This record gives sequence, C-alpha cells and structure tokens, in this order.
Amino acid sequence: MRILAALLSALLALGLEAQAAFLVKPYLQLGDGPRVAARERLDLLWHAENQEGAWTVEVQGPKGWELQPAPTFRTLHAPPLPAHRIYRVILQNLAPGTRVPYVVKLNGKVVFAAEAQTRKPESHRMIVFGDAADGSAAQTAIAKAILAERPDAVFITGDLVYGRGRAAEYRSHFFPVYNSEAIPLMRRVPFLGVLGNHDVPFAHWPDASAYFAYWSLPLNGPVLKAGEANAAPVTAGVHDAVVAASGAAFPRMASFSFDYGKVHWTVLDSNVYTDWESPVLKAWLEADLRAARGASWRIVALHHPLFQSSRSHFDDQWMRVLSPLLEKHGVDLVLAGHVHNYQRTAPLRFKPSKAGRRGTTVEGEFTVDQAFDGKTVTQAKGIIHIVTGAGGAELYDPWQTDAKASWQPWTKAFVSDQHSFTVLEVEPKRLRLRQVDIHGRELDAITLTK
Ligand SMILES: [Fe+2]
Repeated sequence: MRILAALLSALLALGLEAQAAFLVKPYLQLGDGPRVAARERLDLLWHAENQEGAWTVEVQGPKGWELQPAPTFRTLHAPPLPAHRIYRVILQNLAPGTRVPYVVKLNGKVVFAAEAQTRKPESHRMIVFGDAADGSAAQTAIAKAILAERPDAVFITGDLVYGRGRAAEYRSHFFPVYNSEAIPLMRRVPFLGVLGNHDVPFAHWPDASAYFAYWSLPLNGPVLKAGEANAAPVTAGVHDAVVAASGAAFPRMASFSFDYGKVHWTVLDSNVYTDWESPVLKAWLEADLRAARGASWRIVALHHPLFQSSRSHFDDQWMRVLSPLLEKHGVDLVLAGHVHNYQRTAPLRFKPSKAGRRGTTVEGEFTVDQAFDGKTVTQAKGIIHIVTGAGGAELYDPWQTDAKASWQPWTKAFVSDQHSFTVLEVEPKRLRLRQVDIHGRELDAITLTK
C-alpha cells in the first residue's frame, strides 16, 4: 500500500511539474530534412517560460536511451503573450518507419514522454485537411477522427489558425486541440502545412504569422529576402519580434518541398503577394519538379485551389497559370484548401487563354479525362484537383452538395454540408484517396494506379 501511495504521489508530482514546465507540450516537425534518409531525423519543439532550465531529450535506441544534442531556443516577445521560449532539438540517427520512444527532462526529471513516428520509406498514410483551427467543436471533432485513422503524418493546406495566424491563437486553440492528452497527435506524428491567407503578417498584429516561428519545415524553397517581391510582407516596428524568433525560416519557409515514402510534395505559398510567373519562383518550381522524376507520385499542396466550383471564393483561382507546368512534370494531385468544403475534379489539362491578373480567375481551355472513375479506370490523364478545406472552419455553400447544376462540368465530387478530411493511403504504384467525415464515414473515394 505504501509503495502504491508513494508511486501515486510521485506521479502526481510529475504531472504538476509537467504542467508547470510547458506552455506548449512537445510536438514533432519534419524539420529541415526534406529527403528520405537511411537514418532519419525529426525536430521536436516545445514552448516554455522565458527562464533558465536544464532541458535534455533522450531517444530510445537499440542500445538504450541516447542523449540528443542540447536543445536550442529562440525567444518570442510579441504581445499579447508574455515573452516565451521556443525550444527545439533535432532527434537524430532514427531508424526509418519506426516508432521511437523519447523523453524530455527538466533538471534531470522526466517531464514528458511519447513515441515519435519516423518517416516511412514506402507505404504510408498521410492525412490532409485545411482551414483548420478556429476553436470550433468541428475542429476538435475532425482532430479526433484523424487520430482514429492512425496517420503517419499530417498536412494542413493553409488557414492553419484563425483568425490571424497569431501566436496567441496558436496557444489558445491550435496546440491544445492537436496535441492534447485526449488527442495526442502532434507528439506522435509530424505535422506539415502551408501558409493560407489567414496566416500572413497582418499589419496590426505583432504576433501574426507565428507560422515562421512555431513550425520547422524544410528550408529548400526559393531564396527570398524580407522586403523583396514574393516574400511575405512584414511591417517594420510591428513584426520585428516574430521575424527575429523565426531565424532563417523567415521568409523562406513559405514554400518548400519534401519527400514522404515514394511521394514528392511541392508546397507553394499561393498568397496574392507571390507571383508564380516571376522568373525566380518559376525557375525554382521547375527545378524542383524536374528533380522529382524518380518519385512514384508527385503532389502539389497549396492554399488557393486552381480549379473549384464553390460560389464562395470563385474569383480566387489565380494559381491556374501554373497548370501547364505541373502537367508537363507529371503532377498527379493538387491539394488545396481556402474553400471550406470538399471537391474533386476529373483529371484535367488546362491551357490558359490569357495571362491572368492575380486576384482573378484565369480563363482557358480544358481537356477533361472523362474515362477515369477511380474504380475501374484508375490511370488518370491529367491532374486531379482536390479542395479539402472542410477541416474545422464554418462550411461554405452547403446547398451546392445537392445542386449539381451549380458545379463546374469537370467537378466530380462536391460535399459542402459536412466537415471532412482527406486520407491518402500511398503505395509505390497505388494511391487511394478517401474523404472522411467526423464519424469516420467515407464521403468519397478514388484509387489511382501507375
Ligand atoms: Fe483561406
């Protein structure tokens, strides 16, 4: 009895200490490791008070617990949150495709323990959704349903945090949902994402665009400098703290690419300040796709869809200008958000008839693969465009689900009256895409083969 009581009080003390130790509990990021490696790495980040503390991280390897490199930190002091530290450690020498136990210690005591899923070399399950953390019940329901799908990694197609991508908003309704005790996702699998129009540096919010400080993703995008064209525009004197806490990530981490299994992902910042027809961005994109020839699948992820049928944001289809380039390099899927519902097109080819202005829909000529049905005909001639923006925020145009006459002729699936997310089950020669609602029910499904 005495032993049990001692154990209980030790656990209670540990729980209290753990609570006191973290402002945001440890979460996994891919870090600057875009390519599959024989020995993998993952970044582990957490937020803590701005005070000294002897933090260490250990990972369980074949020979026992291995001490990781000393954590580093940057301090973010952007009101209204008090100054806090963003700690980061690179977990190293990890076996691919395994679940690796790790512990975080403060002053020699374990204050956090979890298992990290490392990148899988072939078959895997990636979850994708957008328009996410608005603090609603739907956001939490989606997160729970995602946990039930047992993902290997998660990708958010922008509008990561409402309403202004602020540090204070991450603290109140991003991390507490995706990395809670009840929904322990971010401590187990890496989350990736891309900037939406709600994640940019809003002029009146010093803690806006916290993406650059809080996320750790590959730094292999176009070389951009603050204040230059195509970079997220910051206001001097307002965003200085966020920029300082972001280090090399600002403004470069806005676009990047990475591989997961045999899939090459190209992630594009599609906000209006970027001009993807500019030589610097276009050259980067072309080089990135050309280098991905060996991948089994090529996916482009961005916030603003190229092709979509919703009445809301219909004029926002300016990224269509990239379609010929993506087709030329054999892109299979484009995954977007922005429009708060689910849509899937037939495999498409598109020739812009005239250069579009950013902020308007680009007109042009379509070639539609009508034979593909994702069931009996599974080889696509063209790119399938997915809108998966039903991840939490209020849904757009629910009436269009049953109003097929309102769909563009190339739209094949449209669910705008239910929150949902996309499950990609990927094998080297077969990709299954399922759209799933908060109850785990399948709303749509296609199979692609090579
Ligand atoms: Fe958006």
